[in-house]
Amino acid sequence: MASRTKAFNQMILLPIFLISCFVLLSQCANTEAGEDLVTETCKHTLHFQACVSSLRSVPSSNTTDLKGLAEIALNVSTTEAIKTLSYVHDLKSSDDGDTNNKNGMSSSLNDCDEQYSEAIQNLKDSVEALANGDYNKVNALVSAAMTNAETCQNGFEEMLGDDNDSTSTSTLTQNNRYFSELCSNVLAITKLIV
Ligand SMILES: *[C@@H]1O[C@H](CO)[C@@H](O)[C@H](O)[C@H]1NC(C)=O
Ligand SMILES: *[C@@H]1O[C@H](CO)[C@@H](O)[C@H](O)[C@H]1NC(C)=O
Ligand SMILES: *[C@@H]1O[C@H](CO)[C@@H](O)[C@H](O)[C@H]1NC(C)=O
Repeated sequence: MASRTKAFNQMILLPIFLISCFVLLSQCANTEAGEDLVTETCKHTLHFQACVSSLRSVPSSNTTDLKGLAEIALNVSTTEAIKTLSYVHDLKSSDDGDTNNKNGMSSSLNDCDEQYSEAIQNLKDSVEALANGDYNKVNALVSAAMTNAETCQNGFEEMLGDDNDSTSTSTLTQNNRYFSELCSNVLAITKLIV
C-alpha cells in the first residue's frame, strides 16, 4: 500500500516538476529575448509608442533598473520641454516682424514662454526628488509640468480661435501633446517604483 502510494506520487509529481522547469525556463528566455525592462515598463503607460521610442533613444535604458528608467524618462521630458521653449522663442522672434499678427499671438506666446520655463524648472526639481526617493513630490512636480503644457495649449487655441484646423496641425500643438504624453509616462513609471 505504502509503496503503491509512493509510486503514484512519483507518477504525479514528476510531470509537475518537469512542467514547472519548463515554465520557469521559458520565462527566463522570454525576459532575455523580447520582454526587456523597457517594453515591460512601457506596457504600464498610456502612451506605449512614445514611451518605448523615447527611452530607447538613451542607450543606457537597456542596462538600467526601474528607477533608472524613471530618471531617463524625466530627462527626455526635460529635453522636449527645452526644445518646445526654444520653438516658442523662434515663433516670438518671427512674430515680432509681423505687424498683422501681433496682439493675440504675442500674448499667447509670452504665456507659453512662461509656462515652459516653469515646466523645465519643475522637471529639474523632480529629478532631485526622484534621487531622494520622494515619489509624491515627483508626482506633484510632473503633474504641474503637464498643467504648464495644457495652459500653453489652451491660450494658443484661444488665440487661433475658430481656426482649429491650423491649431491641431500646428507644430506647437504637436509639441504640447508629445510633451504631455512623456509626462504622463513619467507618472506611470514612477508609480511602478512605489
Ligand atoms: C541592448 O544591449 C544589448 C547588449 O548590451 C544589445 O545587444 C542590444 O542590441 C541592445 N538593445 C537596444 C535596443 O539597444
Ligand atoms: C539625466 O540628465 C542629467 C543632466 O543632464 C545627467 O547628468 C544624467 O546622467 C541623466 N540621467 C540618465 C539616467 O541618463
Ligand atoms: C472646430 O471649431 C468649430 C467651431 O468652433 C467646431 O464646431 C468644430 O467641432 C471644431 N472642430 C474640431 C475638429 O474640433
